[in-house]
Amino acid sequence: MKSGKGLLLLLLLCAVRIPCPGEKILHLGTSTTSLVLDARKGGELKFVYYGAKVEPDDLNAILSAGVPYSDAYQAYGKYPDEETPLWVVHSDGNMTTRLVVRDVVTETAGGSTVTVIRTGDDIYPFDVNVCYRTYTDSEVIETWVEITNREKADVVLNRFDSVCLPIHKGDVWTSHLSVGIMGEAGLVEEPLLQGTMSIRNKDGVRNSLNSHSEIMFSLDGRPDERHGATIGAALCYSGNYELAVDTYWGRYHQFRAGICPDNSSYRLAPGEKFVTPPVALTFSLEGKGGVSRNFHRWGRNHVLRHGNMPRKVLLNSWEGVYFDINEEKIVSMMKDAAALGGELFVMDDGWFGGKYRRNDDSSALGDWVADRRKLPGGLKALTDSAAVAGIGFGLWIEPEMADISSELYEKHPDWIIKAKGRDIVAGRGGSQVVLDFSNPKVRDYAVKAIDRILKENPRIEYIKWDSNSGIYMHGSQHLPSDRMSHLHIEWHRGLEDVFRRVRELHPDIVMQACGAGGGRVNWGVLRYFDEFWTSDITDALQRIYIQWGTSHFYPAIAMASHISASPNHQTHRPAPVKFRADVAMSGRLGLELQPADMTDEEMAVCRQAVADYKSVRNTIQMGDLYRLVSPFDRKNVASLMYVSPEKNDAVLFWFRTEPFAGQILPLVKLDGLDRDRMYRVTELNRIDDTPLPFEGKSFSGAFLMNYGLDIPYRHDVPEERKSDFSSRVLHLEAKD
Ligand code: GLA
Repeated sequence: MKSGKGLLLLLLLCAVRIPCPGEKILHLGTSTTSLVLDARKGGELKFVYYGAKVEPDDLNAILSAGVPYSDAYQAYGKYPDEETPLWVVHSDGNMTTRLVVRDVVTETAGGSTVTVIRTGDDIYPFDVNVCYRTYTDSEVIETWVEITNREKADVVLNRFDSVCLPIHKGDVWTSHLSVGIMGEAGLVEEPLLQGTMSIRNKDGVRNSLNSHSEIMFSLDGRPDERHGATIGAALCYSGNYELAVDTYWGRYHQFRAGICPDNSSYRLAPGEKFVTPPVALTFSLEGKGGVSRNFHRWGRNHVLRHGNMPRKVLLNSWEGVYFDINEEKIVSMMKDAAALGGELFVMDDGWFGGKYRRNDDSSALGDWVADRRKLPGGLKALTDSAAVAGIGFGLWIEPEMADISSELYEKHPDWIIKAKGRDIVAGRGGSQVVLDFSNPKVRDYAVKAIDRILKENPRIEYIKWDSNSGIYMHGSQHLPSDRMSHLHIEWHRGLEDVFRRVRELHPDIVMQACGAGGGRVNWGVLRYFDEFWTSDITDALQRIYIQWGTSHFYPAIAMASHISASPNHQTHRPAPVKFRADVAMSGRLGLELQPADMTDEEMAVCRQAVADYKSVRNTIQMGDLYRLVSPFDRKNVASLMYVSPEKNDAVLFWFRTEPFAGQILPLVKLDGLDRDRMYRVTELNRIDDTPLPFEGKSFSGAFLMNYGLDIPYRHDVPEERKSDFSSRVLHLEAKD
């Protein structure tokens, strides 16, 4: 038994190991970061270092000086008082595992290198590959684990994290996103204290509604946008997860992330391989801003579908007409969208149904045929009208779901998630149920349903894929009883299978991931999608906060951001169209209202905003984000900017978040520009009668970053158009 202070000290000393010459030191890296592991054959895999790039001489010096070692990926058994990323019960009931390194293999293909450290139990035929992928053009390292049972009977996996990363103690703070008080993606920043900090999601279906599976660690104290060593981690997975930081004895916080093991113990059959979802790790010395930019670039280049293709400006029908869809209305909305400069129209919920109708949210999910009573010409007539209007056509669908009031459920009551012998627990509309994607027949149905719509209507170029229910009762009508605890894992394997097959059939279609708002904002999902619906809250002021949080891990190109009606439908807050348009322009711009209800002023401002957005969308969608003043800091202003990779073009957004008479707002210092270049300033989406004092003038990057611009707080507009809102969008173009 280990106990008492003396023993603790002894253990601390034991934890400091110095590698012997000839030991296998693995130096994995990106152009600015290093991850160093000790992978001696026959020894336990040890973590040595993760952070800013170390040169070989420094590494040798560090190693010979004696680095404190920590386990890189160990299993339960040796020290039962420690948390471990893996906990296994072997086929004979042995609850302990000791993983030792067998060998290391690397494979390079298509701009990335995968390093596999093959470890295994020292007495059982039980293998664990600890894998790392590095890219030549990205600062992100992806890591995951492959577990194979070569024993004669099932091995039970009780915990199966994707990563275990020691983080040296000090003044370490975390930044993560929770539902908080601001809707989705509320930014939470707090220091790491003693004990276990855990972020979980057990919705079963959508995993970013209540909290996100991404986190940053600011190693030098309070999180800062521009300075400080900062680690970022994102678990790329669509299902239940847990991110945990264990802070107990020893020098390190232990960060673990993986599939949430609660109610999900997994019986690994002989010969079966269990692959965990990857965790994307990154590091920057440029604070949170640097970490965000690393995630954005990696996401655009390696994860997101069509990550470098500019996104179209769209009009979505949901807040405009809700379920009240008919052909005439949709055709006139498409024409209005085109007149506003829109490039795509998306028909949301309410378009389908046969025997059961979709006039509200209580029926017809699963019956994916156009309701001819609303749309006599079917989808074909609409896509033809879209083509005539010169606009693309998109469609809402919710393929993972059914309603009890649907022909689908009538035919296949055994296709839904339900516990044996128990009544159904329905979700939205008192009728919505989740299809059992652990069942291959159900997956085939979903793939065929989408494929049929897209094949019959080849002009559809965009799908909004929604998901409005969690799993409300644990139970599959398909899985055998000894595999019932696999439900959550099998369901998400099934979901990924459906995503993959749809993508194989329709690689070019643009797809938005939606989950009752921002429930599907995850890098695991975005491997198959082009963008996500950020939140069902479209209030512009609140969106500043939601988009600020989301931008920590996700780029503007993927962040759907729509101009909605005033007063807003969720908060009932009225806001001038200029403010609504400016906020929406800071992401992937769209509109979500009934154009027929817009005033002439709204029409004019939106038309201008769409045209201006198109002129700078490459910089917003492909540029580097610099967050300048946080709305969460309550300085009455929020500001951010995007800078093109060549630093010759930038777009600055400035929003007054809380107006008071006589208030003095801080100057906003710009960032990310070239100090030595001159930038000409032009206001976009301008409504003022007089130009800004610096309109058309040029300033050096150094001046803009050292001092900033003194932005007028109020708009120079006629009395009847004055309001307590104000916002600016400035375009900065390098003069050379
Ligand atoms: C969810 C989505 C909305 C809308 C509705 C339709 O709530 O988040 O954007 O599509 O479903 O029912």
